[in-house]
Amino acid sequence: MEKVLLLYSGGLDTSVMVKWIQEKLKKDVVTLTLNIGNSNLKEIQEKAFSLGVSDAIVADVKNEFADEYIKKEIYADGFYQDYPLSTAIARPLMAEKAVNYAEEYGCNTIAHGSTGKGNDQVRFEVTIKALNESINVIAPIRDWNMNRVEELSYAKSNGIYISKNGKYSVDENLWGRSVEGSTIENISSPLENDVYEWVTPLEKCDDSGMDLKLSFKEGVPVSINNINYDLVEITEKLNQIAGSNGIGLINHIEDRVTGIKSHEVYECPAAVLILKAHKMIESLTLNKNEMDVKNYLDYQWSNNVYNGLWYDPVMEHINAFENSINKYINGDISLKLYKGNIIMKSIGSDNSMYDYNTITYDNSLFDQNSGKGFIDIFKNNTVIGNSSRKEKLKVIQ
Ligand code: ARG
Repeated sequence: MEKVLLLYSGGLDTSVMVKWIQEKLKKDVVTLTLNIGNSNLKEIQEKAFSLGVSDAIVADVKNEFADEYIKKEIYADGFYQDYPLSTAIARPLMAEKAVNYAEEYGCNTIAHGSTGKGNDQVRFEVTIKALNESINVIAPIRDWNMNRVEELSYAKSNGIYISKNGKYSVDENLWGRSVEGSTIENISSPLENDVYEWVTPLEKCDDSGMDLKLSFKEGVPVSINNINYDLVEITEKLNQIAGSNGIGLINHIEDRVTGIKSHEVYECPAAVLILKAHKMIESLTLNKNEMDVKNYLDYQWSNNVYNGLWYDPVMEHINAFENSINKYINGDISLKLYKGNIIMKSIGSDNSMYDYNTITYDNSLFDQNSGKGFIDIFKNNTVIGNSSRKEKLKVIQ
C-alpha cells in the first residue's frame, strides 16, 4: 500500500486526518512529529500508534530550530508588518524534515494540516517542492469540507481522543505563539482574556518592572546578566522574563499571501525583546550606509520568509550579507522592562562607532567652523532645485 507522511501535531485536525487518509484515500500513514517548542513527543507518538499508523516518527529539532532558523532571523531583524515571523520561520524546517523522512520511509506523498486560506500551505508546499519536486503534497482540510463541529463528531465516531478542545487555532513554538479564529475574527470587539497565555496583562505586571543586561556576540544573544546560555535557553528564559513584564503581545491586522486581511494575535516575548536589543546594538556598531542596505535586505528577507520562499535562490545572497555584517554586531545593553516597555539604560561595544570626543559639546575634536563650508555645498541640490521651481511658477503665472 502507498504511504503518506503526515506532519502530525496530535491535535484535532491532524488526528482526524490520519483516519481520513486511511479510510478515504486507502493509504498507510506514517506520522512525523517535531519538537520545536514544548511538544510532548512520547504522548503524541502513542496517540499516533493508537490511530493505527504504520510508523510514528518523533524528532527533537529545537536546537536546530534555534541555531539554523532563529539565529538567521535575529541576524536579519525579521519582522513582517508587526509580526516577528514566529510561525513562518518554523515552516521551512518542518517541510525539510518531512521531505527527508518521506524519502527515508518510502512515502511518495506528504500531508499537512494547513487550511486553504492561510500562509502555511504556501510555505509547506513551496519548500517541499523546492527540495523534491516528485513528492505529492496533500492538505486534507482543503479537500474534506468539514467544519469544526463535523470534525469533532468524526473524531468521536472514530474513537479519536481529543484532550483539549481549544476555542482558538493556536500554533506554538520556541519563538512564539500565534492565535487565530473564533472571537478574534470579530474585530469590532476587544480580545477576550482567554487569548493570552504567555504575556501578563499590563495591569497585573510588577510595578517596579525588571532590569536586565543582554550581551550579543556576532549578532547572537549569548548571555543574560553575564551568565552564558545557548540560544534555546536564552529564548526560553526571555519568554518567561519579558512575558511576565507584559512584553511581546502583537495584536494587528495582517496581509496574508493569499490576499486576505486577517486579525492576528501573537505572544512573542523573547522574539520582541531580542530583536529590539539587536537593533539597538546595530545602531551603535554599523554605519548609516551599512544600516540602509541592511534595512532593505532585512525587508526582503522577512517578506521572503513570510511568503514561504526560504529556498528561493536570492536567500543565499541575502544570508551571505547578513552573515558578514553580523560579525560586527557585538556589545552589551542594559534594559529596563516595564509594563510592556523596553527602555534602554546603557549600551556599549568594542565595535562602537559612537565617538565621545567628536560628539561632546565640551571641547569637541569636531571643528564647528567646518559646518558652514559643509552647508554651503550641501545646500546646493535643494536650494537650486527649489528656486528653479519658483522661477517656473512665476513664468507660468
Ligand atoms: N498569520 C501567521 C502566519 O502566517 C500565523 C499563522 C498561525 N497559524 C495558526 N494556526 N494559528 O505566519
